[in-house]
Parts: sequence; structure tokens; C-alpha cells
Amino acid sequence: MTMRTCKNLLVTGGAGFIGCNFIRLLLSPGHEFSGRIINLDALTYAGNPASLADIEARYGGNRYFFVSGDIRNPDLVQFLFKNYAIDTVVHFAAESHVDRSILGPEAFITTNVLGTFTLLEAARQYWGGDSAGTLFHHISTDEVYGSLGKQGYFTETSPYDPRSPYSASKAASDHLVMAYHHTYALPVTLSNCSNNYGPYQFPEKLIPLMILHMLSGKPLPVYGDGKNIRDWLYVEDHAHALWTIIKGGRTGEKYAIGGENEWENLTLLTTLIDLVSRKTGMDGDTLHAAITFVKDRPGHDRRYAIDCSKLKAELGWKQLVTFEEGLAKTVDWYLANPEWIQGIQSGEYQQWLNKNYDTR
Ligand code: NAD
Ligand code: TYD
Repeated sequence: MTMRTCKNLLVTGGAGFIGCNFIRLLLSPGHEFSGRIINLDALTYAGNPASLADIEARYGGNRYFFVSGDIRNPDLVQFLFKNYAIDTVVHFAAESHVDRSILGPEAFITTNVLGTFTLLEAARQYWGGDSAGTLFHHISTDEVYGSLGKQGYFTETSPYDPRSPYSASKAASDHLVMAYHHTYALPVTLSNCSNNYGPYQFPEKLIPLMILHMLSGKPLPVYGDGKNIRDWLYVEDHAHALWTIIKGGRTGEKYAIGGENEWENLTLLTTLIDLVSRKTGMDGDTLHAAITFVKDRPGHDRRYAIDCSKLKAELGWKQLVTFEEGLAKTVDWYLANPEWIQGIQSGEYQQWLNKNYDTR
């Protein structure tokens, strides 16, 4: 297997949850990556430069360059390709929250579809006929495949069946990426991953939202009957998988990434309550009593589960962090980082909570 040499990475959405964990991995001591990272991020509510403050202090202007800007801006994107001689794109930037896509789908279409198109066009123009040594890696989700019943798993060949504005916009971006490969021979790889959890996740998603609600004595809102199932992967395992694919994945291929770790929401919440109670000394019964069943999400997908045997067999990736370890690390991180939490709990965050939960 020939390994790609990546020198100048354009990482989009690197100030978000998974992007910042990916950048942290590549710039961690002893990591084989020796090039530069250009992080293009519009700093929406979900982007937070504080998540990379130590990276900025250590590598800023040398191996790490933060650019505050929008992937929908073709002039800026084209400038970055030229100015930094980009050979690899790692495309995380997206509107990423299903509930927000239900309350306001437009940004999902413009960022996830038009933004991806803008990046693909810039890559096609800049790399032109000479795409040797280049790669456009697109980060996507298992949600493009729709909802599973009790049986079965999503694989790279599952039919697309998106059911929320979020997953539909991600599906559209996946199709564009593959179309640029087939039509223009753009070197691409694409990954579809299951639910991530870990440090730096914005507390609109299930696990950090529940941790913060427990710590502040708020109700713990469970949608519907709480029996929806998600397949959870620790974010650092996702970052390792992405690097593995970027280095050695076959051009034009999709790779499914998953935790092989399915949990019903309610069972997961019970486990998390016990963990938070043990770590903080908070009363477990009081936390359990805070569980509140609220109105279900419209079109709520029942079950996601990934078969990631292709990635394991072809590229030798595997999960390194068990759910028990990962959840413990996650709770520890949120307990140890009150400044980070205060930083994102802006007026916008409170407005979101009011908007999403008041009507449920
Ligand atoms: P996130 O919402 O935490 O971060 C998204 C980042 O993109 C933010 O920093 C935001 O400022 C930036 N951004 C948004 N719009 C932008 C624009 N127009 N221009 C430039 N930057 C913009 O998301 P995440 O959870 O880190 O997800 C990253 C990627 O992984 C997304 O593409 C998502 O679809 C995918 N994914 C996420 C999960 C998950 O569980 N979180 C699972 C599978 C796939
Ligand atoms: P989420 O973290 O939003 O991820 P996704 O919808 O992309 O899978 O939600 C995970 C699961 O948790 C999903 O079944 C919806 C449910 N959920 C709740 O029950 N309550 C909540 O407050 C949130 C945010 C999610």
C-alpha cells in the first residue's frame, strides 16, 4: 500500500468538535504528520478558538494557521489553495445538529451543500490536470443512510435514505464529492461515521447536554420513549480513523466508521448518571428523578449502527477506547474545564435551549 505524503492540509471546521480533536492529534508530540495545517472556520456558534488555544500558542504562524472565514466564499477558498499550496483537504465544516436543521434548515443547505461545492470547485481548479499527491477527504455521517430497524447495519453500499434536513444536506454533499471524482477525476475519499462523543463537543448534543444539565440541576430531556439507538465512537478513535484513511485509503472509496457500540438513549443516560454521581458525589436518585420525557423529535431516526469491517480489514484501523473509558474521560474533561463551558454558554446558547426545549 502506498502512503500519501500530506504537506499542506486545509482543514475546514477545525474549530468545531471533531475538527479540533483531529488537529490536536496531528500536532501531538510524536505524531508522524510533519506538515502545516490551515484551519478555515467561520466560527459559528459551534466553532470555538479556545478549543485550540494551546495549539495556536505553540504552532501558530509556523505549522498552524487559523483563518476566520466561510467555506462558501470562493475567493477566500481559492486564495488559500494558492497561498498555502494546499495538497490535502480535510473537510469537516458543516452545520451538524439535527434539531437545528428542523428549526432552521437554510444554513444546512448553504453550508453543507454550497460550501462543499465551493471547496470542490477550488480543488478542481487549483489541482487541475496535475492532481498527483493530492486528496480531498470528505467527512460525513451514517445518518445519510436513514434509519435501521432492529436488525442490520449500515455499510459503504447501503442505499442513501436521508430523513432530516441535516442528513439530506450531508447526503447531497456526499453525492457531489463522488461526482467530482467520477466526472473530473478529483482524488477523493469519503467517510461516514456514527455518533461521536468526547472532549470539546458543543453541549447541544446528547452526552454533553446531559452532563451539563446534571451539573446545573436541570431536567434531563429524553425525546420520545428513549429507546432510539445510536452507535457511539470516542472522538479520538474517529480522528485516528480519518488519518488512516487520508494516508492509505483508496482514492474514490467510501469508508464506514463506527464504534460497534450500540446504546438505547435511556440506558446510556442511566449509565451516565451513575458515572456523574460517582465522580461528583451528587445524589444518584435525585439525578435519576430529573429524567424528563419530552415531545419526540419529528422524523426521529430509530436506530443507527455501522459495520466498519472494510476499514478494519483494508487499513487495519480499530477502536482503541472502550465506552467505559471514553465516557469517564469525557465526564472528567467537562468537570475540569469550566472556563471552556462558560465561554460557549453565551446568550445564543440559552436562546437555543429555550427555542428547542420550551415547546417540547
Ligand atoms: P461542529 O458543529 O462541532 O463543528 C462544525 C464546525 O464547522 C464549527 O467550528 C463551525 O464554526 C464550522 N462551520 C460551520 N459553518 C461553516 C462555514 N460556512 N464555513 C466555515 N466553517 C463553518 O461539528 P462536528 O460534530 O465537529 O462535526 C464535524 C463534521 O463531522 C461534520 O461534517 C459532521 O456532519 C460530521 N459528523 C459528525 C458526527 C458527530 O457525532 N458529531 C458524526 C459523524 C459525522
Ligand atoms: P444527538 O446528540 O442530537 O445526535 P443525532 O441526532 O445526530 O444522533 O442525539 C442523539 C440521540 O439522543 C438522538 O436519538 C436524540 C436523543 N436526544 C434526546 O433524547 N434528548 C436531547 O436533549 C438530545 C439533544 C438528543
